[in-house]
Amino acid sequence: MPLLVAPALPAGTLGAQDQPRLPVRPGLALRPWRLDDATAVRAAFDCPAIQRWHVRRLDSDDEARAWVAQWAGRWRDETAASWAIADADDRPVGQVGLRGVELAEASAQVSYWVVPAARGRGVATEVLLALTGWSFTRVGLHRLALEHSTANVASCRVATGAGFTAEGVARASVRHADGWHDMHRHARLATGSQ
Ligand SMILES: CC(C)(COP(=O)(O)OP(=O)(O)OC[C@H]1O[C@@H](n2cnc3c(N)ncnc32)[C@H](O)[C@@H]1OP(=O)(O)O)[C@@H](O)C(=O)NCCC(=O)NCCS
Repeated sequence: MPLLVAPALPAGTLGAQDQPRLPVRPGLALRPWRLDDATAVRAAFDCPAIQRWHVRRLDSDDEARAWVAQWAGRWRDETAASWAIADADDRPVGQVGLRGVELAEASAQVSYWVVPAARGRGVATEVLLALTGWSFTRVGLHRLALEHSTANVASCRVATGAGFTAEGVARASVRHADGWHDMHRHARLATGSQ
């Protein structure tokens, strides 16, 4: 049964190139994960807020290494992408990335976390703006969606600060450790209408 709509972006749009390093500002960049980041990732997942909102914990160095190692394959198969948010010493202070990449629809969802020591200085907002700019202008994505629990006030501020317009609330749509959460949906469009 032939589709009547051509894919918005062809296969290979992401996976045919190496995952790039993306500059954000002096002292802050997005870079592909490396295996030697596993210790930093394990420490990050000790944060109760990261566990709470990403509904995962890491119990061993092996799990942390597997977490870091998964991203090369997910970049190649064009389903997701994750960057380490690297500080001036190139050490990871967070994660930002794309999930649920649909090249045919030129869309994806964004994901982010920042380690407690680096919070409150605009890092999440700046890296989300950088990733959004690259996704629209270099990749050709058309729509980026962002979803957070209505109880996650900080994430809502990040979304709004990075120009992701609120689109509504999906009631009781994602299960967290304490039960179902209403999810606030935001999105930004490449057309500039946010
Ligand atoms: C949410 C998170 C990524 C914010 O990172 P950050 O680098 O501190 O964010 P920023 O410094 O860019 O702050 C953005 C805005 O959020 C506000 N903010 C930050 N932490 C806040 C908090 N705990 N409560 C209320 N507002 C908060 C800031 O004041 C700022 O608001 P403004 O733009 O109106 O001035 C970080 O707290 C985190 O990793 N939390 C746990 C994981 C998580 O929630 N991930 C997102 C899941 S959807």
